[in-house]
Amino acid sequence: MSGARRDILVTSALPYANGSIHIGHLVEYIQTDIWVRFQRLRGHQCTYVCASDAHGTPIMLKARELGISPEELVEHYREEHQRDFAAFLVDFDNYHSTHSPENQRLVEAIYARLDAGGHIVRRVIRQAYDEQAGMFLPDRFVRGNCPHCGAEDQYGDSCEVCSRTYSPSELRNPRSVISGTPPVERESEHYFFRLGDFEASLREWTRSGVVDAGVARKLDEWFEAGLQDWDISRDAPYFGFRIPGTEDKYFYVWLDAPIGYIASLENLAQRSGGPGAEAYFGAESAAELYHFIGKDIAYFHTLFWPAVLEGSGHRKPSGVFVHGFLTVNGQKMSKSRGTFVSAATYLEHLPPEFLRYYYACKLGPGLEDIDLNLEDFVSRTNADLVGKFVNIASRCAGFIQRGFDGELAVELEDPELYAEFSAAAEPIAALYEAREYGKAMREIMALADRANQYIDAHKPWLMVKDPAQADRVQAVCTQGLNLFRALLTYLKPVLPATARAAEAFLGGEALAWSSVERPLLGRRIDAFRPLLRRIEMRAVERMIEASKAPAAGETEAAAPEEISIDEFLRSDLVVAEVQAAEQVPGADKLLKLTLDLGGERRTVFAGIRAAYAPESLVGRLVVVVANLKPRKMRFGTSEGMVLAAGNGEQDVFLISPDSGAKPGMRVR
Ligand code: 2FM
Ligand code: ZN
Repeated sequence: MSGARRDILVTSALPYANGSIHIGHLVEYIQTDIWVRFQRLRGHQCTYVCASDAHGTPIMLKARELGISPEELVEHYREEHQRDFAAFLVDFDNYHSTHSPENQRLVEAIYARLDAGGHIVRRVIRQAYDEQAGMFLPDRFVRGNCPHCGAEDQYGDSCEVCSRTYSPSELRNPRSVISGTPPVERESEHYFFRLGDFEASLREWTRSGVVDAGVARKLDEWFEAGLQDWDISRDAPYFGFRIPGTEDKYFYVWLDAPIGYIASLENLAQRSGGPGAEAYFGAESAAELYHFIGKDIAYFHTLFWPAVLEGSGHRKPSGVFVHGFLTVNGQKMSKSRGTFVSAATYLEHLPPEFLRYYYACKLGPGLEDIDLNLEDFVSRTNADLVGKFVNIASRCAGFIQRGFDGELAVELEDPELYAEFSAAAEPIAALYEAREYGKAMREIMALADRANQYIDAHKPWLMVKDPAQADRVQAVCTQGLNLFRALLTYLKPVLPATARAAEAFLGGEALAWSSVERPLLGRRIDAFRPLLRRIEMRAVERMIEASKAPAAGETEAAAPEEISIDEFLRSDLVVAEVQAAEQVPGADKLLKLTLDLGGERRTVFAGIRAAYAPESLVGRLVVVVANLKPRKMRFGTSEGMVLAAGNGEQDVFLISPDSGAKPGMRVR
């Protein structure tokens, strides 16, 4: 271990449980996971917790629209997110929910302390109200013309055209996003947290090195602008925790969300018997506490959150690590360009560790956005991971297997070169620690170049043919494999699955950061199997194609090429009766249909939701392409396709046979 054993708690932002994880989210989870794995590899105690952010108006409304409870919606996405994160090798110790008993207890206790400390004030405010929907409207749920530049259809809090901010009551021609009716103004008592009470200690805390220089500058601007009271209550109907002592007031989602970090830790402690809230959040805690977040939520984590912690008798974080956004090919992610790629779609086409490595190459400690250039992604990951790194092992392992029965030499061929590799352990560790992953990757790849140069210089493939040199092949390849093993250790936080596979091939030892101090000698290794395969630009193109949202009219059929009657007859078209139809949470366009094809049951996912209510379909006859290859989707497997006319959006018209047709009849 390096130095004293540190005790660290790490969090990533809690994703809202109303949409899928995409490659933009993954920047943060991959950045955090690399840091956590690095700390564990160094022998430190490092706990990583996360949870679903469950509350708020958008989640309540989405659940309503789907006809399910918000709890069901949250659970659906909580499971999906956990699956996606696990597939990207993000190794949480716990993944909880903010809609949990632990969080409710903590939020109530923290609020009670803030109130007792005199940090909560109650004030009547006027707010937009939708009389038809019977609810107050968050700023983003009112749209209208910008009061400054007149741009149409702008949000109630800011204009995307002129970037000015304002309140919804200033919008011209305002209307509710929910009912489309013009909102009225209504009064309601709200609860405010007096952020200004904490100004002095926040100023001191933010200057103590807990945030990066770029964030510190942003904070100075915020202090200059003055710290306003923060509205922490919302009126019913709202999905959240009710404020004790009230009938119809709820805690605002952003009050309970970061408390969810503590709740997830508490839940882990209950399940594992490990240390809980007090150990990491208690006023006397000496443990380290770090939050990884995106720059859009820095205000919440560097002002509100530390103030709430202090006001409720807790310690403040040791660091808040803020990253920038992801761009793809230099532009904002976009559905129409197909660059808004979900985690699941990425995984259908490409291996997760390639994205982990590419993000690592691009990441530094600052706020700058990072760009995923798709051509560079393919060429760089192939060149570095396959061409340089894995190549070292594949160039050496075969000779050891074939010529020496898998036995490594007892001595290094070039101890000085190996010493250079092991001496890099501390500088590379310092780069990981400082979240300078891009620089760390460059150091590691420079060493990989050195290792390949070593093999090129000795040419074991020629040595084996020369009786005078054949003996030295074992020493040279042992050297090469030990250089590979050092690089593997340094890349292990980024490539955990490859590391596991390579550890198995190198005799089974789980590498720690200090393993490079002792080279692997006189031991038997297993047969080498390729660890990573090259990726193809074609796979990236298919991924982008699969992520494209059709633009209006785009799905209208272009004149197709001619086919022969035989080609046509290859499709097996069958009459089917819809037995059941239901919505698919998380899929805006799909309905799940259970079909009877004359005794045979099939499940088919059809993109007809915009045009058909599920209950209107039951009992109806449709035509199915029955011999279509089953298609695996996120929600299940689709075993066929129902025929419909139209553009696939609102205009969808199912094809039905005339009365008298029976399920199972062939269509010709
Ligand atoms: O911005 C977001 O996506 C929030 N769901 C992040 C919450 S982080 C923490 F405070 F819970
Ligand atoms: Zn404007």
